[in-house]
Amino acid sequence: MHALGIDIGGTGIKGAPVDVTTGKLLADRQKIDTPHPALPDPVADVVKQLTTSFNWSGPVGITFPGVVADGVTRTAANMDPAWIGMDAAALFAKATGNPVRVLNDVDAAGMAEMTFGAGVDEQGTVLMVTFGTGIGSALFVKGILVPNTEFGHIEVRGRDAEERASERAKQLHDLSWSKWAEHVDEYLQRIEALLSPDLIIVGGGISRQSEKWVPRLTGLRARIVPAALLNNAGIVGAAMATSSESAPDTSGASGTGH
Ligand code: BGC
Repeated sequence: MHALGIDIGGTGIKGAPVDVTTGKLLADRQKIDTPHPALPDPVADVVKQLTTSFNWSGPVGITFPGVVADGVTRTAANMDPAWIGMDAAALFAKATGNPVRVLNDVDAAGMAEMTFGAGVDEQGTVLMVTFGTGIGSALFVKGILVPNTEFGHIEVRGRDAEERASERAKQLHDLSWSKWAEHVDEYLQRIEALLSPDLIIVGGGISRQSEKWVPRLTGLRARIVPAALLNNAGIVGAAMATSSESAPDTSGASGTGH
């Protein structure tokens, strides 16, 4: 089973065809800068360009850095507010001429990690948290995703957690590794108090330098490991979401899916 995976981020939009049974990319991934402002039409145009560049015809899975319910983007903390309430699935289906599935970026990355990366065979409560422009989360219980958790936005010391503990916060406030790790540790302790995960997988670009900060997260009971798939987790998870077995059900109370 092959699908095209496209991962929409604040700085780049990446894509590659994926063998969803192995999690392997079938071609080198391509990356195009995210248009600014990141309005729906220009972003859909990039999605179209990626689809065309792989000469792709078939299912396309697409991530978005916000809540996605039943193909509709509901929040856009770090994207243009024009996305709020947009039927992104319809927009991308029209742009690509292919059947599409749209889901939250970290839900996608988490699905890929659970199947092919750091969460393989984990049966307990697993929380994936990514640190980038924002903080994203994906929660799994016995391998099943609870879609659209937004634990990057819990309040810590009166502020949205991603304002203190994202990678962007580290850069913006020029925080040392030890100071930033303190913020991350405090944030993850709050999450741990609420969810008691058995395993926390930390991802995002900054997990490539995990040795600089993960050993400093000493206040946690949960096992904590860096993500294994790094850059490709979103693409692989997006592609996986196109097959009904692995797709998160965000279709609402009926539970019938679409
Ligand atoms: C968004 C999440 C997203 C995360 C990582 C947050 O600001 O609210 O939906 O998963 O950033 O991109």
